[in-house]
Amino acid sequence: MRKKVSIVGAGNVGATCAHWIAAKELADIVLVDLVEGVPQGKALDLLEAMPIEKRDVKVVGSNDYSATANSDIVIITAGIPRKPGMSRDDLLQTNYKIMSDVVGKVVAASPNSILIIVSNPLDAMAQAAFKQAKFPRERVIGMAGVLDSARYRTFIAEELNVSVENVSAFVLGGHGDTMVPLPRYSTVSGVPITEFMSKETIDAIVQRTRDGGAEIVKHLKTGSAYYAPSAATVEMVEAILKDKKKILPCAAYLQGEYGIDGLCVGVLCKLGARGIEQVIELKLNEEETAGLKKSAAAVKELCAVIGI
Ligand code: LAC
Repeated sequence: MRKKVSIVGAGNVGATCAHWIAAKELADIVLVDLVEGVPQGKALDLLEAMPIEKRDVKVVGSNDYSATANSDIVIITAGIPRKPGMSRDDLLQTNYKIMSDVVGKVVAASPNSILIIVSNPLDAMAQAAFKQAKFPRERVIGMAGVLDSARYRTFIAEELNVSVENVSAFVLGGHGDTMVPLPRYSTVSGVPITEFMSKETIDAIVQRTRDGGAEIVKHLKTGSAYYAPSAATVEMVEAILKDKKKILPCAAYLQGEYGIDGLCVGVLCKLGARGIEQVIELKLNEEETAGLKKSAAAVKELCAVIGI
């Protein structure tokens, strides 16, 4: 039987997730949104591309969560995006209300699903979803690290004029100004980037990565990024549906790892059929540990505002 992935929110991120999932023929897709006609129209349009793309994928749009019943994975993108000058944290109250409403309906329709949370502020929204869904932590995963790492890898590849395929690097911590790119673990064909770049260049790349989302918002003016965020989400979907045991940075509910307890923060996770099959605890140096602690404190502060 084909796998089923539902996507809540038929805006740019949600619809582009559907596009990547269909292009990779990963699963049948249900697109859900409050707005009448939008999920139906986008789903039908994508469905009609399938003969051209030679992909057997059903795509359905609906305003009703009953269409999402028994999904294997539910991607939640619902919420308002940033406008120029706004931080992700400015979205907190509005998106928390939306998230609470959505998670209740999603869980009722698909009690065995794996949730991938994409709405911002990411880590706090993942925490909100985890608390409300009452799923084991394996089945509530926040998407941010794959996106932030992809931006970081893009800038490294561009700077060194090498293939993006040669660049392996990741970002830990919250999806915000305090995220923690790790140059020590960033390599080009296995060689640490510190061999190829000065500290100043690395620092500039790290800063651009931290500001990566805002850089796009500044260009677009009316919304935030969606190609890279949705590609990142679908890399996680693929790892789960194909049980790849792929190690990716994701927001996970930590239970003592890195000295952080009871908080969703970005760490390296092994993704497979059961969702987060392992949280990988790296030996960080003093500076990296301090960076992660600071980032976790920023997430905790946000969670405290909404009392979760
Ligand atoms: C970004 C937003 C979507 O990083 O968080 O682009």
